[in-house]
Amino acid sequence: MSNHLWPYPGAIAYGGDYNPEQWPREVWDEDVALMREAGVNLVNVGVFSWAMLEPEEGVFDFGWLDELLDLLHANGIAVDLGTPTASPPAWFFAAYPDARVIDGDGVVMGFGSRGMASHASPEYRRAATRIAGELARRYGTHPAVVLWHVHNEYGVPVGEDFSPRAVEAWRGWLQDRYGSLDALNAAWGTAFWGQRFARWEHVIAPARTPSTVNPAMKLDWARFTDDQLRACYRAERDAIRAHAPQPVTTNFMAHQSWNTDLWKWAEEVDVVSDDHYLWSPDPDAHVALALSADLTRSVARGRPWILMEHSTSAVNWQGRNIAKRPGEMHRNALTHVGRGADAVMFFQWRASRSGAEKFHSAMLPHAGTTSRVFREVVALGSRLGDLAELQGSRVETQVAVLYDWESLWAQDLEWRPSDALQFRERMRAYYERLWRDGVQVDFAHPGDDLSAYRLVVAPASYLLTAGQGENLTRYVAAGGTLLVSCFAAVVDEHDAVHAGGFGAPLRESLGLTVEEFLPMREGETCAVELDGETLPADVWAEHLALEGAQVRGTYRGGPADGAPAVTRHQHGEGTGWYVSTRLDVAALAPVLAAVYDDAGLAPSSSPEGVELMARHGRDADYLLAVNHREDPAHLTVHGTELLTGEPVAGDLTVPAGEVAVVRTERGGGR
Ligand code: GLA
Repeated sequence: MSNHLWPYPGAIAYGGDYNPEQWPREVWDEDVALMREAGVNLVNVGVFSWAMLEPEEGVFDFGWLDELLDLLHANGIAVDLGTPTASPPAWFFAAYPDARVIDGDGVVMGFGSRGMASHASPEYRRAATRIAGELARRYGTHPAVVLWHVHNEYGVPVGEDFSPRAVEAWRGWLQDRYGSLDALNAAWGTAFWGQRFARWEHVIAPARTPSTVNPAMKLDWARFTDDQLRACYRAERDAIRAHAPQPVTTNFMAHQSWNTDLWKWAEEVDVVSDDHYLWSPDPDAHVALALSADLTRSVARGRPWILMEHSTSAVNWQGRNIAKRPGEMHRNALTHVGRGADAVMFFQWRASRSGAEKFHSAMLPHAGTTSRVFREVVALGSRLGDLAELQGSRVETQVAVLYDWESLWAQDLEWRPSDALQFRERMRAYYERLWRDGVQVDFAHPGDDLSAYRLVVAPASYLLTAGQGENLTRYVAAGGTLLVSCFAAVVDEHDAVHAGGFGAPLRESLGLTVEEFLPMREGETCAVELDGETLPADVWAEHLALEGAQVRGTYRGGPADGAPAVTRHQHGEGTGWYVSTRLDVAALAPVLAAVYDDAGLAPSSSPEGVELMARHGRDADYLLAVNHREDPAHLTVHGTELLTGEPVAGDLTVPAGEVAVVRTERGGGR
């Protein structure tokens, strides 16, 4: 990540996607007037406007965008200018049918929706960089433009492509990676099922096969897809940089993304931005929101980030799209801010009358300015205006949770011991335990320097390389506390089981290896006895081979009845904990309590259901409180409540469902 300036210094940016090309010209004037009323200071423009900007190949029409940017600028509204390359026009696919994506079942993805063309298509890359470059040439000096927004959510709705040109690119990528077919065959273990390749042109992509496809090939395919998408991004970014000085971003999807390794992507953008939508079936979707926000800040390496999209109320693309309750949008927005966002943006400004997203909520809903949603939008704009001084302040934590997209890709491959043990489920469960305990966390990559953290938690580290294992072992030896969840350090970077058995890279730090996995049937349960408590467990057990680890919890019932379930091991100056089964959020509580003790952490004493977040500025600290409860919460804090401007001398009441932001002295306050 380069050191470009934050695009909107001195304020929390507020706004959303703005698609005025869907409306008659006279509506634009009403839009900007209402934006001013709502405190909007930044809008994303042009994200899906390719067909309007380049109606025919090489023929550009920037007139309407000139007028729009001038209008916004005249009204003091800054612009994050999109490159429209997530939705190539009809002429593009008519002229270049080979640029269509082909899925793993051989289905050709046609025009009429949106979605990326083939990442390997030279015609697509040429057309995409041309429109990006033309936009940058024209608007690189426009005073309204403060940021560039390349493409939209790389990897969705399509990322993988099995078209002939993608397969050709794949072979080239493999040649670069492995150098020789011998190395490729060794990495993929092609001696198994006689899959050895003797010629490069025989190397296939992992499309549909009669039985399960080579897992190491699939893992490399995920890496390849991610690399290709990033190359498309880089090409556009560089085309912009050739003409325009403003920072460049592309909107991520944090914990909801699959095709993109965001540790790598974050290094390519000037500012990290993220889209987040609540998942309606999840009654505690605000916990997933917090996870996403923490993950986004972490890939941004602690720098301020942009919440590029969220929704004012319901989305339209889930089975049952649940409207946000009064106050929920404010709680959501302030949680993102509490976790490091310095911009709060929505999809979208004005609800579309036509098209696939007409039932999606917006800042200005179909019901207009008298609606509850618009009133809350105006109120939120005013509140964010009161929080300008938070811009640039940082979140500091003492706990890291390991998150690695490569491990996600590998763990979700087919033919695992149990498909009920899932990366995202374990990540959420451990995160939620920490969240409920009021412990603020960063996410970290297993190869990172972890020495600044008192505690490192590894909820889903199925793929852990030998080098990463050494990194964690060094961390423990130097005094760190490491907590590892089951099915960890099983395979290396090629999805091959580690020599030395399951868990071998963590043998020294945990004082054990795993002899056998003992998955359970659906509905089957067992228990773990720990410190006099009986904790329910399910899905998974393991037969551990202890090599010095102390038994802290014992299986009662199930396939490992009487055997060690939870262990603690002293290694060097630190401690390695291992949990060999699936404990739910409640059952993890006593385990984490013991681990906090080892790590010297004191979890917060905030009332249940009250989310507390701290940001640290140069001259002051800020406490953000979000009350998810249906009754008022009472906090002890000293300072000034910024949303009311009132001094707080000890007692602060946060009404049911409300938020509060208190400026406290640096290092003091509570
Ligand atoms: C995504 C897209 C937006 C819009 C929203 C709807 O995040 O980036 O264009 O489709 O979803 O929720």
